[in-house]
Amino acid sequence: MNQFSSLGSYPAVRLRRNRADDWTRRLVAENTLSANDLIWPIFLKEGSGNNEPVVSMPGQLRVPLDELVDHVGQAVDIGIPAIALFPATLPERKDSEGSEATNPENLVCKAARLLKSTYPALGLIGDVALDPYTDHGHDGVLRNGLVANDESLEILAHQAVIQAQAGIDTLAPSDMMDGRIGALRTALDLAGLTDVRLMSYAAKYASGFYGPFREALGSSGALKGDKRTYQMDPANSDEALREVALDLQEGADMVMVKPGMPYLDIIQRVKTAFAVPTFAYQVSGEYSMIKGAIDNGWLDPDKVILESLIAFKRAGCSGILTYFALDAAERLKRG
Ligand code: PBG
Repeated sequence: MNQFSSLGSYPAVRLRRNRADDWTRRLVAENTLSANDLIWPIFLKEGSGNNEPVVSMPGQLRVPLDELVDHVGQAVDIGIPAIALFPATLPERKDSEGSEATNPENLVCKAARLLKSTYPALGLIGDVALDPYTDHGHDGVLRNGLVANDESLEILAHQAVIQAQAGIDTLAPSDMMDGRIGALRTALDLAGLTDVRLMSYAAKYASGFYGPFREALGSSGALKGDKRTYQMDPANSDEALREVALDLQEGADMVMVKPGMPYLDIIQRVKTAFAVPTFAYQVSGEYSMIKGAIDNGWLDPDKVILESLIAFKRAGCSGILTYFALDAAERLKRG
């Protein structure tokens, strides 16, 4: 006996009937994926010149401002609602305090102004964290060798405000300092930016799957130590609910779980517990694993790319940040 016993059993019940034809499969599908679910992360490159391939992420590029309008136009044309910007900062612009993060002329701000004026209806998501800008590669500033929470918050709040002033619609703090959502909300509201949204990287784990991203940004060589004093322990699940609860109390509009596929259980718990817009980040390492296997002929892209993304919808996500966004949107359009 189980909870389904009263619903009958084989041979009267045959679940294969509903799977027998394409039309029934389409009718009974419990989840769907569309371009509306996708957010495309984009790496920015300083200076002019050509797009530059990211070796550890085949098919992804570092894009200079000259090429950005064309590159992002592909997302606009196919109906992707938003992109997320990540800057590869020149080593000479990095310092221990991450000063470039609060420079209104930094790469992200320049890109935001350009994109907002070209594509006003495209959602722009800006990462809030210091790691692209610090010479030690941490997401906050160091005091006595430790990432200092409250001093980092002040800089992060400043970073958020200048990005919003440059045209970023949604700030996505990925730094995992305590109290950052409240600090950002207060700073944005004081600056009159009450409509700027916060998508919190609420449950962000200290993961090995960020490796290729750090190469893309040039922060991997720079990183001293690891991020386990601020990012979450992969062993934990209840703690993710506390992180999300705090961020919602502090004013997060949307929450995110990161990485994606290894943490589907967390997504499901978060969505069930809070019923708020929940996002997953299918991170660089997930992309590189799948893409690497595809490029070697070991996995079929026509099957695995969309399968890897529908998993997030099934788990309860409103949307997914994925390097496959453009590729997936093109596949969905082809049908
Ligand atoms: C930086 C940040 C990271 C990612 C997004 N924002 C890396 C990190 O925390 O070290 C990872 C994204 C990816 O791997 O695709 N705070």
